[in-house]
Amino acid sequence: MKRFLLPLPFLLFIPVLLFAMDFQMVTFKTENAGKVIFDHDLHLKKLGSNCTVCHKSIFPITTDAPPVTMAEMEQGKSCGVCHNKTKAFGLNECVKCHLVKEVPIQIPQFGTIVFSHNFHLGMYGCGDCHNKLFKPAPGNPHISMRQMEQGASCGACHDGNTAFTVKENCTKCHAVKDIAFTADALFSHKFHLEMYKCADCHSKLFVAGPESKRHSMRDMEQGNSCGGCHEAVPLSASKGIAANAIRPQRTSRSRRLTHFSATSSIWVSIAATTVIAVYLSAAPAASGIPWRTWPS
Ligand code: HEC
Ligand code: HEC
Ligand code: HEC
Ligand code: HEC
Ligand code: HEC
Ligand code: HEC
Ligand code: HEC
Ligand code: HEC
Repeated sequence: MKRFLLPLPFLLFIPVLLFAMDFQMVTFKTENAGKVIFDHDLHLKKLGSNCTVCHKSIFPITTDAPPVTMAEMEQGKSCGVCHNKTKAFGLNECVKCHLVKEVPIQIPQFGTIVFSHNFHLGMYGCGDCHNKLFKPAPGNPHISMRQMEQGASCGACHDGNTAFTVKENCTKCHAVKDIAFTADALFSHKFHLEMYKCADCHSKLFVAGPESKRHSMRDMEQGNSCGGCHEAVPLSASKGIAANAIRPQRTSRSRRLTHFSATSSIWVSIAATTVIAVYLSAAPAASGIPWRTWPS
């Protein structure tokens, strides 16, 4: 029996611990400025473990105290009692209380952009973007570049006047890197971007990001993937772009693409053999040449 009673004090301790943890960190959820976490421990160290400095003069201990606005804090309410640049840092230092991070924005079929709060907060306050342009939470509706060109989302500022325009400068926001395919092939965005725009390849030839799919060389010969430009058969030079762009150099970059010529010549020979075979089998009947009498 004693064996079972022994852990009891420890078990009783758990709710106490949970309560302590619960009250240590208080989270304020705001509509347009994310979360603010108030740290009891930190404040109690600074203020000498004195609960009454705040309770109940400034903050009633209740779960449903009405939200306080920043404007009210400026006038000396809530956090603003101390955070006024005299007793503690001022309310102008937004990110000390409002936790913001670099936000990844996932774009369907076009990779991921990382929006930098840090960079923009050097020039703007939360209210310049939240909520009129973005909800401070994941799950904003997707905006197309066309809508941005008309002033939506990033385009509200990135219009060529306030900041660089979304009509150009694609790579300032959309990071592009070299793509390593299996079989040692390396695709260089940088090299191709000297000649092409994103839309020449995305998404009609390539889906950027996790939903991209791998093509076989056979697909490519039919004009998919790299084969959209790198065609192996010289006849297609009339299409004007990148015919035979890849010369059979023995570099790791071009190794996979030199496959083109290898596989296509196999196909050409198979086709040729078939044509000859068909011709020959039909030939005796048509011409009357005594087929079987050919020397063996
Ligand atoms: C610097 C100010 C400050 C001091 C000092 C302070 N508190 Fe708080 N306390 C707060 C704030 C802010 C809240 C959140 C109020 C709200 O949600 O509106 C809070 C909330 C609480 C809550 C409710 C927790 C919850 O999850 O809603 C408890 C319990 C609490 N405090 C206990 C204490 C005790 C015990 C002490 C002294 C050891 C103390 N506080 C000292 C500012 C303070
Ligand atoms: C009774 C005075 C008082 C009140 C009320 C108060 N603070 Fe503070 N707070 C301080 C002091 C003092 C410091 C430490 C000095 C400093 O950092 O400027 C501090 C520091 C902080 C820090 C700095 C943490 C760090 O990493 O350095 C944060 C964040 C903070 N307070 C948030 C809040 C929030 C949010 C509220 C309102 C919910 C609040 N405080 C209300 C006195 C107060
Ligand atoms: C000392 C901490 C602190 C600082 C500094 C601070 N805030 Fe707040 N802010 C809060 C807290 C806590 C709340 C939530 C209050 C509540 O719900 O009762 C809040 C709420 C808000 C809200 C929603 C309410 C409203 O006023 O519309 C906005 C927006 C906001 N903050 C923006 C800012 C901006 C912008 C800055 C910098 C100029 C800033 N805050 C600086 C602690 C702070
Ligand atoms: C220049 C515009 C801009 C400014 C200024 C700005 N934000 Fe944001 N914020 C964004 C964008 C863009 C997103 C991403 C929205 C999305 O994911 O679709 C975002 C997302 C957020 C998120 C949700 C992402 C996360 O990390 O959970 C929070 C919270 C947030 N912002 C808080 C703030 C606060 C607080 C401020 C002021 C201190 C602020 N923002 C200032 C543009 C801005
Ligand atoms: C200021 C930053 C910025 C610049 C500059 C920019 N984009 Fe975007 N782009 C974005 C963001 C953010 C999204 C995601 C929007 C969303 O999902 O709400 C996006 C989405 C897209 C999409 C998917 C949506 C659609 O319209 O089909 C494509 C494609 C795209 N961008 C291409 C481009 C091209 C091409 C350029 C250059 C002409 C460019 N972008 C310049 C930020 C930018
Ligand atoms: C409230 C205005 C505003 C909004 C909204 C805004 N930006 Fe910006 N952004 C600026 C300004 C101003 C600059 C600096 C001027 C410049 O570089 O032309 C800048 C610069 C940048 C830079 C260059 C950063 C560097 O390191 O040089 C990137 C990348 C960027 N913004 C991406 C975005 C994306 C992505 C969005 C939308 C999710 C967005 N911005 C929304 C105003 C804004
Ligand atoms: C000549 C063709 C071509 C052009 C032009 C091109 N891309 Fe790509 N892009 C590709 C290929 C190939 C891939 C890899 C697809 C795959 O993984 O299957 C790719 C992948 C991507 C990825 C995903 C990267 C990853 O890590 O998965 C992004 C993002 C991207 N491109 C953005 C752009 C942007 C932005 C532009 C214009 C500035 C652009 N691309 C122009 C061919 C191109
Ligand atoms: C939109 C057309 C287009 C697409 C799609 C395309 N390329 Fe290219 N590529 C070109 C052109 C044009 C050249 C330059 C022709 C030349 O150098 O003779 C080139 C050159 C190259 C080169 C030689 C680069 C150098 O440094 O000399 C390699 C390697 C290459 N492409 C690989 C690829 C791969 C791998 C793919 C598929 C993932 C691909 N390309 C898709 C048009 C394209």
